[in-house]
Amino acid sequence: MEIRDAVAEDAPAACQVLRWSITQLCPADHRNDPKILARWLCNKTPEIVASWIAQAGNSLLVAVEDGSILAVGLVTDEGKITLNYLSPDARFRGISRALLGALEVRAIERGNARCTLTSSETAHRFYLSAGYSEDGPPVRQFGTLSYPMSKRLAVQNLRFSRRRTCPRTGRSG
Ligand SMILES: CC(C)(COP(=O)(O)OP(=O)(O)OC[C@H]1O[C@@H](n2cnc3c(N)ncnc32)[C@H](O)[C@@H]1OP(=O)(O)O)[C@@H](O)C(=O)NCCC(=O)NCCS
Repeated sequence: MEIRDAVAEDAPAACQVLRWSITQLCPADHRNDPKILARWLCNKTPEIVASWIAQAGNSLLVAVEDGSILAVGLVTDEGKITLNYLSPDARFRGISRALLGALEVRAIERGNARCTLTSSETAHRFYLSAGYSEDGPPVRQFGTLSYPMSKRLAVQNLRFSRRRTCPRTGRSG
C-alpha cells in the first residue's frame, strides 16, 4: 500500500471511494435518510474532486494498493483535515491510521503545530484513539451531527520532513 499525492486522473476513482464510504460506512450519521445523503453527496462529483486536487493550498492524498484507491484524505496548508474516507472493503487494516499520519506529516511540513477536523459520528472513536480531542460542542452538517476535534502534532519526531521544508515559506521544496 502506497500513500501519495493525488493527480487529476485519480479524481473519478477517488470520488467513487468518497461516495461508497459515505453511503455504506456512515449510516450512524445519515440514518439512510435520502435528504441527508443527497446533501452530503452533492459535492462529491469527479469534477469537484478534480478541483480539490488542483486547488493551491490543498494536499489531497490517496492510499493505493494494486492500482486501486482505497482511501482519500485532504489537509489544507492551515492544517485542517477536510476529507478522510475509506473504501468499505478496506476497513480495519490500519489504512486510515496510516493516511491520517501522512496528512499530519503534511500539515507539519506546511508549518502547523496542530491539526483540526470535524468528525462524523462514525469516525469519532477512531479520532479519539488517534489522539484527537474535542474542540467545542457538536455542530450540524448536512443534517448530521459532527464533532469539532483537534490534535497537537509531534513536530519533534519529524526531522526528515523539517529538513525538506523551506523555513521562510513553510512549503516543501
Ligand atoms: C472511521 C474510518 C476512517 C476508520 O478507518 P479504518 O481504516 O477502518 O481504521 P484503521 O484500521 O486505520 O483503525 C485504526 C484504529 O482505529 C480503530 N477504529 C477504526 N474505526 C473505528 C470505529 N468506528 N470505532 C472504534 N474504533 C475504530 C481500529 O480498531 C484501530 O485501532 P488499533 O490501531 O488500536 O487497532 C473509516 O471507517 C471510514 O472511512 N469511515 C467512514 C467515513 C468517515 O466517517 N470518515 C471520517 C470523516 S470525518
